[in-house]
Amino acid sequence: MSDARGGMDATKSRRPGPYLGAAVRIDQIEADARLAEAVLRDCASLTPEIDMKWDALQPGPGDWRTGPADGLVAFARRHGLEVRGHTLLWDQSTPAWAKARLERAPGDWKIVADYFQAVLGRYGDAVSEWDVVNEPIDSEAPDGLRATVFQKAYGPTYIERALHEARAHAPNARLVLNDYGFDYDNPVEHQRRAAFLRLLEQLKTSGAPLDGVGVQAHLDLSKGPLKREILAPFFTRIADLGLSIAITELDVKEDGRRGGVAERDRKVADHVQAYLDIALDQPSVTGLTTWGLSDRHSWLQKQPLHPSANPTGMNRGLPYDGALEPKPVYWTIQQAVSGAKGPSTLTSR
Ligand code: XIL
Repeated sequence: MSDARGGMDATKSRRPGPYLGAAVRIDQIEADARLAEAVLRDCASLTPEIDMKWDALQPGPGDWRTGPADGLVAFARRHGLEVRGHTLLWDQSTPAWAKARLERAPGDWKIVADYFQAVLGRYGDAVSEWDVVNEPIDSEAPDGLRATVFQKAYGPTYIERALHEARAHAPNARLVLNDYGFDYDNPVEHQRRAAFLRLLEQLKTSGAPLDGVGVQAHLDLSKGPLKREILAPFFTRIADLGLSIAITELDVKEDGRRGGVAERDRKVADHVQAYLDIALDQPSVTGLTTWGLSDRHSWLQKQPLHPSANPTGMNRGLPYDGALEPKPVYWTIQQAVSGAKGPSTLTSR
């Protein structure tokens, strides 16, 4: 791990820094030498942005397409990087054929058991941490749990069962629940935090093999300031349950993409600084992954824009711009995790 962050001045950090990681796609790494360089320079951990989702791995019942995930795992292994497994159960990435089966035979656990056995059997040794269930929370639902295809097929205990199933096939991996919408001071996110904490408490009480949580942290400049009095107690409650916390999908959606680039980049960097000032004060936060490295590849380019946005402009919410040049937020992140002070560290390597 220290190799991947080599060259950073770690003497100023408050504690052994959390690891830095990024969501990546192996096809993009292979096609772009500058991206590969940035990955190797910055990352101790990689998350497959797409390639370990169910619809990517098994688009049809007998149709396994493990090439890209295998490639990513081999790349990580070659360079001594950890891999976060993303993700075993996510409604949105469940292939249509599996959804149809779950709807036809609700209660039949075999489809999940077979899938976990295959995927965890293949990547068990390579993946250190799994997002076992992604995005289980829905603040609108009476019990706070999203009415996913799994919830409908198995009832609310599907999460606990999935954790036990994962543990059976991956005895050494860290097992995690990953979700979004916990960051801001508004009624929906208050409810989402409360529902998530309730779920975590229930799982711990029932003895489910849950090791940690993933806080996605898709930040959004239109949602107002980040508040310590909101975020810090949320992190503390999770830590008090004995769970580790990883920030798993950090990026920033701009509000409108207007103004000069320097001003916009400052705003993004300040927002991330405010977030990390709070999050990294919590010792149970063990890692920080950004959802991509370069704006060029950011999923936010495909998100609906604020009506006043300049539709031709790129969102600038990741460490590197579209030309793979580091932006102020790059240094904000580097400094937060390792105490590195400025661009000289980057250019000297
Ligand atoms: C996104 C990818 O970035 C997109 O390329 C893909 O089309 C859809 O999924 N929360 C998650 C991630 O947990 O898996 C999502 O990734 C972004 C939101």
